[in-house]
Amino acid sequence: MADSRIAGLYSRVARSGPPLFFPDPEHPTHFNFDQGLAAPETFPKDDILRLSQEILERDGAEALEYFDAKTGYEEMTFGYRGLREQVARRILQRQGRDLGPRGVILTSGSVQAIALAANAFVDPGDVVIAEGASFPYALRFMETAGAELRAVPLDDDGMDVDALERLLATLGAEGKKVKLVYTIPTFQMPTNTEMPLRRREKLLALAAAHGFVVLEDNVYGELRFDGEPLPTLLSLDTSGLVIQTGSFSKAVVPGIRLGWMAGPPDAIAALAAVRQDLGTSQWTARVMTEFLARDMLDPHLEKAVAVYKSKCRAAVDAVRQHCGNYVRFRAPRGSFYLWLEIDDQVDWARAADMAAREGIFFRPGQRFMDSTDGRQFLRFAYSHVSEQVITDGIAKLGAILRECARG
Ligand SMILES: Cc1ncc(COP(=O)(O)O)c(C=O)c1O
Repeated sequence: MADSRIAGLYSRVARSGPPLFFPDPEHPTHFNFDQGLAAPETFPKDDILRLSQEILERDGAEALEYFDAKTGYEEMTFGYRGLREQVARRILQRQGRDLGPRGVILTSGSVQAIALAANAFVDPGDVVIAEGASFPYALRFMETAGAELRAVPLDDDGMDVDALERLLATLGAEGKKVKLVYTIPTFQMPTNTEMPLRRREKLLALAAAHGFVVLEDNVYGELRFDGEPLPTLLSLDTSGLVIQTGSFSKAVVPGIRLGWMAGPPDAIAALAAVRQDLGTSQWTARVMTEFLARDMLDPHLEKAVAVYKSKCRAAVDAVRQHCGNYVRFRAPRGSFYLWLEIDDQVDWARAADMAAREGIFFRPGQRFMDSTDGRQFLRFAYSHVSEQVITDGIAKLGAILRECARG
């Protein structure tokens, strides 16, 4: 295919690589810990059905148009105003920022919001900084916008902002312009760490001093089952430089494909300016508008988070019981993942191969990382499978690690 006639006509962006997707496993999967997906048993199917029907009966053809004539064309760039108002209301309630409906743009999942942000703020040659293990799609969008990517190391408290400060000084000395820092401060993906308040404040002070955009990815932010919530970067920001992406994908359902970017209206205007589609679905946006307006999100989250807490406990207990000496990890306080570091006494190449043959599927750490420094990690998603599968899969993995332990 690549040497076909049309392949010679690919654009620079298309030539930069194949679509980003992760390969299917070579062996039949019995224990799928690979994808970070919301648990299907939590999906509010009945509510979605009932609200869809009510909306189609109430709004008729209007719910199936490109935009609501009462609001006008702005919905083709920003999305359905009713949902923007609801998202803005929730941000005001929970994060204390009054952004208004022009401070929210609706997108096809948060991935589109991140892609728009890349096109809205990054020019070729600009430096974009991210955590040393991060969300590959976001990095890819930044790269295709022409960014020079730099990574800042992570530790148990998320991004090391002292290391960021040093990197900024080095880049400044080289005359390089840092345009944007992409960070996942709450339930960082893949490491599931949380950035403490002091680091959040320092990151914002650095943004104000150096004048770069902070893109806060908050898609897992509401999935907390332990510990006290930390203020978001958006809520702490006084510089107007923070934009925050959120989504219904992890908290409610991914298939509805609705996410957003929120921030000061003059930042969101830049995303609207580079939008290339004609907005998000009126229909699903109206369904989620009602879901929020009728205060259905919090009771839903309470139930869903209890499911993740229980699955997380099952995974943590099983890892401690079966993999004890061979892995290191932190018990998560929310979200979907364990981030396991494999002890170097294990012949990990052999163990990973055996696990694949046993149908145990997980995501190798290097898929997220700029450099592993020779260490071995794996991201284990417990969110989407049953507790039985979690316990059985980890027991098998533990037996493999034991067998592959050297000496
Ligand atoms: C950190 C992070 N951000 C954003 C997304 C995108 O989710 P969506 O586009 O479904 O909102 C994901 C999905 O896995 C993610 O892990």
